Amino acid sequence: MTQLVLGLSAFYHDSAAALVADGVPVAAAQEERFSRRRHDPSFPHEAVGYCLREAGAELGDVAAVAYYEDPALKFRRVLATYAGAAPHGLPSFLDGLPAWLGWKRHATRAVREHLAGPEGRAVPEVVARRHHESHAASAFFASPYPSAAVLCVDGVGEWATTTLWQGVGTRLRHLAELRFPHSLGLLYSAFTYFCGFKVDSGEYKLMGLAPYGTPRFAPLIRERLIDVKPDGSFRLDLRRFEYLRGRVMTGPGFEELFGGPRRLPEGPLTEREFDLAASVQQVTEDVVVRLARTARRLTGEPRLCLAGGVALNCVANGRLLEDAGLTELWVQPAAGDAGGSLGAALAEAHERGAPRPHLGSGHDAMAGALLGPAYSDDEIGAYLDAHGIPYERPGFDGVARQVAGALASGAIVGWFQGRMEFGPRALGSRSILADPRDPGMQSALNLRTKFRESFRPFAPAVLAEDAKDWFDLRQESPYMLIVGRVAAAQRLTAEVPEGVRGLDLLHVPRSTVPAVTHVDGSARVQTVDGRHPRLRELLLAFKERTGCPVLVNTSFNVRGEPIVRTPREAYACFMRTNIDLLALGGFLLRKEEQPPWHEERDWRDGIPMD
Ligand SMILES: [Fe+2]
Repeated sequence: MTQLVLGLSAFYHDSAAALVADGVPVAAAQEERFSRRRHDPSFPHEAVGYCLREAGAELGDVAAVAYYEDPALKFRRVLATYAGAAPHGLPSFLDGLPAWLGWKRHATRAVREHLAGPEGRAVPEVVARRHHESHAASAFFASPYPSAAVLCVDGVGEWATTTLWQGVGTRLRHLAELRFPHSLGLLYSAFTYFCGFKVDSGEYKLMGLAPYGTPRFAPLIRERLIDVKPDGSFRLDLRRFEYLRGRVMTGPGFEELFGGPRRLPEGPLTEREFDLAASVQQVTEDVVVRLARTARRLTGEPRLCLAGGVALNCVANGRLLEDAGLTELWVQPAAGDAGGSLGAALAEAHERGAPRPHLGSGHDAMAGALLGPAYSDDEIGAYLDAHGIPYERPGFDGVARQVAGALASGAIVGWFQGRMEFGPRALGSRSILADPRDPGMQSALNLRTKFRESFRPFAPAVLAEDAKDWFDLRQESPYMLIVGRVAAAQRLTAEVPEGVRGLDLLHVPRSTVPAVTHVDGSARVQTVDGRHPRLRELLLAFKERTGCPVLVNTSFNVRGEPIVRTPREAYACFMRTNIDLLALGGFLLRKEEQPPWHEERDWRDGIPMD
């Protein structure tokens, strides 16, 4: 009989469910994709329902449910934090107390009750795994390695904020940890907040801003905010942060160091924010590189697995390979807390004797991270017909050929194919695609397709076999989590003109693929092989036509909205934006053939700013 383990993350942010069958991840999805609430923290009813349907199973078939953190430990940390910060922390302590005394403290009981539902279904055993163990398990057990060092870095779970492990076979050995309130994730989030972005989602923006600045504050950060030891362990100077005391991340301690109050959300970006971003990025990279060297030394393993929110900071990952003496790096594509659901399930499954059957295949266990729901051409056709939506149906090969042609003539394409991605990146199943050679494309996509800030970079998808001709990468990067420089042969030698700074850098020609080249010449690359077969076929067709095996690949959504899941959501996003062409499986929809699009109210009203 198949051993099924259901993993859950819930009640904080990025709720998700994952199902593991005999040690193999078979389905995983974030609740936000169903509820349409970004980073939805509520119980992942829809994601659980999807995972069970995908496996043709019912709750009664599941051997165990694994929750991604230990609620009792987390409760003790929250209590101790507030007690330690009293009386300053009292207002936010009193705000949070009822919730903590109620369901949050008893999260596993809450899990049981949610799963039982009003009809009182029988619920399998519910167990809690440690938060960082869930991250470590998601990184190592799903990796292609029989043994490896494992590094997890995030904001905070229960107490741990940074952990080192050694994984061998189906076992994980805990080696070392750093504890709250000393947290690299919280340091990064403090700067995210100070620069006027939202904590727990704006960290990407800060990372995207870094190449526009110079790290002039890095020495000050090292001197006054974080004391980093040669082995990568660190202590924050907590007097300079507010997160122990109140509802905000930073206050006078930062204002005094960095020249006045924080930038207000949506306010103008100044050189200070660019330079703060560059500085905290440099400090973060230095710490992660030192930690990776320590992991290498403690375990003797030349291969490293990474997870935790900080692992999504792919710039640091690019430096890891270069500077930490690693032969290979594997980053869990759902490295944030959503991926904790999968890690908890894997940890529990292996403890109950499940093998790692993917070892020996040469690939990881993530199936290209395509673990979400798919829609067949029959389902897509039924939706289009029911709503009288005009389409052509050339079949997938025809779609790929026509889309390649349209992309080459400047079209922006909505690309909806196969199973949805698990994790924050679109990898060619729910993507918006464009021609990276077009110098105007980055700003067209940011301002008129995604309705987001003009500085934000786009990432390239490149045929795996051609990657080395276009990007300096030492290994594959199937999940768009490793940054490399655009290859010298593709770079333009234009010097940055004297005095050009900040956002004006965007207008300096950078490479033959400007839309995916960041202002510092770097790119966050997805190398595309047989794990993403439909994107691969399109890249082959685009290369045949243009000689360029690269496309812009960005997630299929607008700013503040979760990535689309269904054909209906894809169609709405297509009609609300300047996307020219929508490829839904074997169907092709052209904007100019669509009937006028009406909505009761401005759809943007319903989407909170991110
Ligand atoms: Fe975490």
